[in-house]
Amino acid sequence: MSTSSSDERSLVLIKPDAVRRGLVGEIIGRFERKGLTVDAMVLRSMDAELADAHYAEHVDKAFYPPLKEFMTGGPLVALVLSGDQVIEVVRGLVGATDGRKAAAGTIRGDLSLSNRENLVHASDSPDSAKREIGLWFPELG
Ligand code: TYD
Ligand code: MG
Repeated sequence: MSTSSSDERSLVLIKPDAVRRGLVGEIIGRFERKGLTVDAMVLRSMDAELADAHYAEHVDKAFYPPLKEFMTGGPLVALVLSGDQVIEVVRGLVGATDGRKAAAGTIRGDLSLSNRENLVHASDSPDSAKREIGLWFPELG
């Protein structure tokens, strides 16, 4: 059976800075108001092993040790969103990586002043979405 583009899924993390700052509702609200669907959601922590797997493409980079400390330093909210072109749509809502440079109107542009504590992770391609959903929500595989 073929799948339509509205079945596309993205793995989103509402990072520990957002939980600490009480921005979970604000951020999920933006996704909901856009018309995206929450398929799964959990409040949990990221341990060292999951951090290394989730950020496999970044583990050798200079910014990784402090990123890992930040991401494992408190609870976060992991969710799976679905909707038409959800991967690209969510990346657009989240904005550029550096909150100081992200466009106004985006989550990072409106709410973050940091290149590390930038509130949200969002899958960047269908392959990474599949891999990340497998890490965080193996039951959805
Ligand atoms: P990256 O995948 O490049 O950004 P994005 O989250 O927009 O896909 O980097 C992953 C995370 O690593 C990013 O959200 C924040 C952190 N990071 C730093 O701490 N310093 C940096 O210089 C970069 C590029 C990223
Ligand atoms: Mg990325």
